[in-house]
Amino acid sequence: MTATESLIAKAEAHSAHNYHPLPVVVSSADGAWMTDVEGRRYLDLLAGYSALNFGHGNRRLIEAAKAQLERVTLTSRAFHHDRFAAFCTELAELCGMEMVLPMNTGAEAVESAVKTARKWGYRVKGVPAEMAKIVVASGNFHGRTTTIISFSTDPEARADFGPYTPGFEIVPYGDLTAMRAAMTENTVAVLLEPIQGESGVIVPPAGYLPAVRELTRERNVLFVADEIQSGLGRTGRTFACEHEGVVPDMYVLGKALGGGIVPVSAVVSSAEVLGVFRPGEHGSTFGGNPLACAVALEVIAMLRSGEYQARAAELGEHLHRELAALTGTGRVTQVRGRGLWAGVDIHPRFGTGREVSEKLMDRGVLVKDTHGSTIRIAPPLVIAKEDLDWGLAQLRGVLGVQGSV
Ligand SMILES: Cc1ncc(COP(=O)(O)O)c(C=O)c1O
Repeated sequence: MTATESLIAKAEAHSAHNYHPLPVVVSSADGAWMTDVEGRRYLDLLAGYSALNFGHGNRRLIEAAKAQLERVTLTSRAFHHDRFAAFCTELAELCGMEMVLPMNTGAEAVESAVKTARKWGYRVKGVPAEMAKIVVASGNFHGRTTTIISFSTDPEARADFGPYTPGFEIVPYGDLTAMRAAMTENTVAVLLEPIQGESGVIVPPAGYLPAVRELTRERNVLFVADEIQSGLGRTGRTFACEHEGVVPDMYVLGKALGGGIVPVSAVVSSAEVLGVFRPGEHGSTFGGNPLACAVALEVIAMLRSGEYQARAAELGEHLHRELAALTGTGRVTQVRGRGLWAGVDIHPRFGTGREVSEKLMDRGVLVKDTHGSTIRIAPPLVIAKEDLDWGLAQLRGVLGVQGSV
């Protein structure tokens, strides 16, 4: 038995089977590259679902984390600590907003956004008690808690987890007419991913997000943008909403905010909206801890330079040009995405997404399949162009395309 086989066998024997990972056991990583326990190197084209936008072992982030580790790591929110004010101020500023509610994981931030919207609905909008409704989109992925899967349309995510949390209306993604029809005077929020990641990197029709913005403003409804996966540089802008000139009422952030080091998430909004909370009404032991704030502050500083967004835009254009050429070969039926982020539908004749991912792994490239025939490509934004080209050459190899197309 190899080290890989033995470690996988142990993991399978002693962990819940809620994931189906590729059979690779990583032991170290640097930039866009990971090394497994056998010493084989792999190009990471997933980047922890965008949690690793700045790459593995990013020196600036590691140094910030190390310095904070030596000072103070956790106080709980029972006391103030000296990184908290800067974190909230600077994150709010990056978002063009006023207040921050810090949490840890993405799902917690979405839960917090749901609670914020409901409380705002009752306290500010004047919705009658227990009547608040939130409109969401089909194909959404906002996390795995009981409330969040209550408004999922993915049977795997929902089955056998009921009873479900009420108060959500699901409308087709990209369909403004359906959204308008679903709204009542008790609607407090629309919760959307500006690009649906898990669903296969689905970009809504042009004009949809601005129309949602207009409709929500008209109806005094909060527009909540879940930018946990799409935000913080991935699409070539700080936020995916920016591509359509849209500023939501609330950003929900996570993943890359923790620099791939610690889980950091946040709800960011106006003082009117986040000002609804009183002490004791919401919280988290680890939310906004000193280590999280120190890492996130460095992430914010890096994003402020605009350098990562520019890189994602430039390399993203290259990536999409190369992938578009593949659709001409018939091996790929559709490519979607923005910036350094792509959903690639493989023609079923050339294998399922899982089969293609396994073949890519054999060639030293790691990606993740989704929904049968789709693979997702989302490399760290720091990937070298030559490495990206090498990864794309491996994809062409797996699909049997000779040379560059
Ligand atoms: C858009 C979106 N929202 C929420 C989440 C949940 O984040 P977490 O896994 O950190 O709970 C994800 C995770 O993939 C996501 O892509």
